[in-house]
Parts: sequence; structure tokens; C-alpha cells
Amino acid sequence: MNIQAKQFNFNGVDVLSDKQLGEHYKIYTNYVNKTNETMTALNSQTDLGLPDHTYSKIRGLKVGEAYAVDAVKLHEYYFGNLNKQNSKCEGKIMDMINKEYGNYATFEKRFKDVAQSVRGWAVLSYDKTFNKLHICGLDAHDKGVIVDSIPLLVVDVYEHAYFMDYGQDRVSYLNNVMMNVDWKVANDRLAKVVAAEVSFV
Ligand SMILES: [Fe+2]
Repeated sequence: MNIQAKQFNFNGVDVLSDKQLGEHYKIYTNYVNKTNETMTALNSQTDLGLPDHTYSKIRGLKVGEAYAVDAVKLHEYYFGNLNKQNSKCEGKIMDMINKEYGNYATFEKRFKDVAQSVRGWAVLSYDKTFNKLHICGLDAHDKGVIVDSIPLLVVDVYEHAYFMDYGQDRVSYLNNVMMNVDWKVANDRLAKVVAAEVSFV
């Protein structure tokens, strides 16, 4: 099976330029291609040689597969929750933020502090097992998400996400991008995972 790159409408994003978003989208499509290339190699070869946890062909493919798949998914979450419409945090996710952090301002400060402390991603996720929110900081696509927690809000903090528009000023990027969060999208994700008939452990 081959996955396809999704299309995103960035008309509702006013804190990043079309050039910045367009170049970032190309990076996403490269990860889609790498995902397909990796999965094809895994599916088409019956003999991948001797396994070894220091170096082996199958190790390289499996590590690469997780890296590429997570890169695709995280970019889709990120592009999907970028929109200045519905930028007021409210509804069930606001209730959970109040419960976890006391108020929105405290949550946003913590989220941005995490985002400045990692190399790749800041993720607000919902842990169905513990019925709570987490703020996850990822140094790479495949490092840092808490097992069984579902992303609700994802912000890319790699320099490639903002350098064309903001240079090294990650603080300004974060302040602005938080004004382009579509909280309806985040609430819809939360509603789906809460409603899911899944027992994780
Ligand atoms: Fe990115």
C-alpha cells in the first residue's frame, strides 16, 4: 500500500507566509515518499539479511519506517490544527486544561516553555488510560510521545517550520502560532478519542 500526501488549506493561517508554508509542505511530502519507499522495501523483500541491533538492514528499515511514519502523522496533525478561525480555546478541552493547569494562561506558558526546550515538536495529547492531558516534548519525530496518548494539538518547532519568516526567533513564532490554533479541531480530536471503544491496557 502507498500512502498519499493530504492537501491542506492554509488560507486561515496569517502568522506564516505562503512561501514558508509551501516549503514546509514540501518537507512533508518528502516524508510521505520516504514512508512509501521504506514500507515497500520491507514488504517486497523476504530476506533482509542477518538481524543485529547495532547495524543490520532490517534495523535500518524499521528505525527509518517509524521515523518517516511519525513525521507524516505529526505534520498532518500540525497542518490540520493551523487556522485562525476558532482560535479561542473553549469546550471540553478547555475544561480539561482548567482541571490540569488551573487556567489557559498557565497551560499556554507551559506549552511554549516545552516548545522552547525541545528540538522537534510540542504536543498536547490526551491519555485515555489515565484520563488526563499531557504536554509532550519531542526531540525527533519518533522520540517523546507518551505511549497511548493521542495528539490533540501539535506544533512543529524545528527551525524549518519558521526560519524563513522569523529567523532564529522561536519565541515570536510560538506567540503567533498559538493565535492560529484551531481549537475546534483539537476538540473534535478529543471527542473522537474519548468516544472510542478502546481499552488500551
Ligand atoms: Fe516540519
